[in-house]
Amino acid sequence: MSPYIGKIKSAIAGELVERFSKPGDLVVDPFAGAGTIPFEAALRGRRALAADISPYARILSKAKLSAPRSLGAALCLAERALEEAARLPKPDLREVPPWVRRFYHPETLREVLNLASVCRQPGNEFLMACLLGILHHQRPGFLSYPSSHLVPYLRDRKYPRHKFPEMYAYRHLKPRLLAKVKRSYKRFARPRGSAVAEFKQTAVQNLELPARFGALITSPPYMNALDYGRDNRLRLWFIDPSLVDEVDNDVTQRRQAFIDAITSLASIVERGLGRNGYCVFVVGEEFKRSFDAHPSDAVVRIMREQAPSLRLKTVMADEIPDVRRTRRECKGVKTEHFLVFQRN
Ligand SMILES: C[S@@+](CC[C@H](N)C(=O)[O-])C[C@H]1O[C@@H](n2cnc3c(N)ncnc32)[C@H](O)[C@@H]1O
Repeated sequence: MSPYIGKIKSAIAGELVERFSKPGDLVVDPFAGAGTIPFEAALRGRRALAADISPYARILSKAKLSAPRSLGAALCLAERALEEAARLPKPDLREVPPWVRRFYHPETLREVLNLASVCRQPGNEFLMACLLGILHHQRPGFLSYPSSHLVPYLRDRKYPRHKFPEMYAYRHLKPRLLAKVKRSYKRFARPRGSAVAEFKQTAVQNLELPARFGALITSPPYMNALDYGRDNRLRLWFIDPSLVDEVDNDVTQRRQAFIDAITSLASIVERGLGRNGYCVFVVGEEFKRSFDAHPSDAVVRIMREQAPSLRLKTVMADEIPDVRRTRRECKGVKTEHFLVFQRN
């Protein structure tokens, strides 16, 4: 629906759900991101509980887990939201920070601002996700001046305005949004009726879970490698302009914060994981020398201390080929470790 740095491949998430949980289990993912693992769990008849600190994760997870029933229903929803947005007063662009204004033709920006305020109403997460998915890129189906897709920066050197004036023209929101809705339903799969899914926007340190759950499958934030706030800043601004500086936390910046987050999680698992249940971590290994231990070693050590009733069953290492990465030739995470723990 919309790019998410550090997203796990859907096929891998599906495989982990198949192998390490049973139909009917409550599958928990406390670092849900784009909601990939909870969505694959719900598709396979599990109940899914997703959580993440980021409002962008909330939008994408809810959009996937409770999308409209059919393309027709989704288009109807989009048409109604566009009509509602068109009835709103024209926004005053002087209230928009200059770093946001730089990305858009003023008329396009007015349309986007009004639709975003309609999409912020609860229940409109699917439409918000579609809008976020077309916010910035250089292709004609997107809303911004030429810019990158994953992380927002303008490509005005590669596409100078005097040589490519059409890329700086007004971009009508309605046809682009409807086309995006149609694209979202091209490979549409809907969770089965029996699957119940929930999303909690919270830091893992404050996460409260039901007394028992069947499996915990998650990919924690990459230690010291990604900055979810900075990389999603434009999308976050449209989700909630007041939050943009508060979204990231230091789990992605400081080793100790990563360790604290995994420590909270390990004690949650020790308390709540059902008999024979699995706990699976997909950990990105960064190769900077500045840390004395690898993140997966840290996870194993913390689990041993905080969750003594679980045993480490399997460790699988997966090299991430450059072609499969969202950012090629990036100097951070080169390998993922799959750590599989089971409760005795
Ligand atoms: C590697 S990503 C998860 C990607 C996800 N599996 C997917 O497929 O999109 C890690 C996530 O952890 C979240 N995160 C970072 N610090 C957190 C915290 N303290 N509590 C909860 N979530 C946090 C980030 O917002 C990010 O979405």
